[in-house]
Amino acid sequence: MVSEQLNALVLPDADGNFGKHGGKIGHPQLAAALAEIEDGFRQIIRDEAFIGEMKRLQATYVGRPSPIYHARTLSQRGAQIYLKREDLNHTGAHKINHCIGEVLLAKKLGKKKVIAETGAGQHGVALATAAALLGLECEIHMGVVDIAKEHPNVSRMKILGAKIVPVSAGAGTLKEAVDSAFESYMGQLGDSMFAIGSVVGPAPYPEMVAYFQSIVGHEAREQFQNQYGGLPDEVIACVGGGSNALGLFNAFIDDTDVALVGVEPAGEGLDKPGRHAATMTLGQFGNIQGFNCYYLQEADGTPAAVHSIASGLDYPGVGPQHCHLKDIGRGRYETATDAECLDAFMALSREEGIIPALESSHAVAYALRRAAKLGSDKRLLVNLSGRGDKDIDFVIEKLAL
Ligand SMILES: Cc1ncc(COP(=O)(O)O)c(C=O)c1O
Repeated sequence: MVSEQLNALVLPDADGNFGKHGGKIGHPQLAAALAEIEDGFRQIIRDEAFIGEMKRLQATYVGRPSPIYHARTLSQRGAQIYLKREDLNHTGAHKINHCIGEVLLAKKLGKKKVIAETGAGQHGVALATAAALLGLECEIHMGVVDIAKEHPNVSRMKILGAKIVPVSAGAGTLKEAVDSAFESYMGQLGDSMFAIGSVVGPAPYPEMVAYFQSIVGHEAREQFQNQYGGLPDEVIACVGGGSNALGLFNAFIDDTDVALVGVEPAGEGLDKPGRHAATMTLGQFGNIQGFNCYYLQEADGTPAAVHSIASGLDYPGVGPQHCHLKDIGRGRYETATDAECLDAFMALSREEGIIPALESSHAVAYALRRAAKLGSDKRLLVNLSGRGDKDIDFVIEKLAL
């Protein structure tokens, strides 16, 4: 079943490795908990009743399939730009795709609670939603900087019944939230399940989250062929941990004429250490938070400070599958700055009437830049991973609108 969903090139070996990346590195106590989750995952993906329930919720609760929209005004720049509208999912982003799967699994394992980190608050909202739906408690760790910036999502999580744990350590953003959530999880292993928010962390998380997100690409490939004929020239997605990108890329990996393009945050500039989060572009190989990948690091190997205008991209590491796709030359990783992201946010809002998440605006920014260099016969498919409601106050203030 997994091999039907996930391309062989992004399937791990028995130890959770994708080439030299990934693995399961951590505390022995955690190893037993991860083994339980992995066994459960292997069982549910072969369980027709489980798959049936997940499909029912995807269709009737999340609102899948999300449409593909041809953005004709944006396309006047050159190449045709198409958007896979994950922003139209219930809760407003792709994160609900893996949250439904993770919470169904937690329930199947008899857990009472799900625990996770969140950056932009989209994973937190999606997890709190799935937990409310399926009757589990939910504990969300979030950096204090992100709490201030993404307050609409904090309010939504509270209303949905989640307990919010503010994290003030370090930079008070996503990496510290992950550390805090893992620490809390270690103290309540029996009753709870860690429900990570991207294709990161020790095995089985990268594979599991990719599996739940793969619906995006499977839908998109079929929709594109049916609606527009053939396949796009490039599929483009922003990369924080990498879940929305891998969800889209997976179905196109064997289509070697289709470029797979991940867009990372160049923040205030690649020449400013600590002021970007361009992991694939400037990171070095090593171990971060229980898995191997390229990550931005100091000379002594500790994770470097990172920055992005988009809280959900503000992470020094990246999913092991992306590192592997880069190593084998199948994935291309580009960057967009904070300023380009804001321009794209406004362009999509004002030219197409769609307010995108700041995370997704990075993919749009690259697509706009790329479209202007290509002829109108070329076709770019962008994963619009989320909507921008959470970002509107921030953008109004930033641009003094
Ligand atoms: C809308 C949106 N897109 C993208 C991301 C980045 O995550 P990933 O790279 O796992 O898709 C986030 C993370 O919070 C997000 O909220």
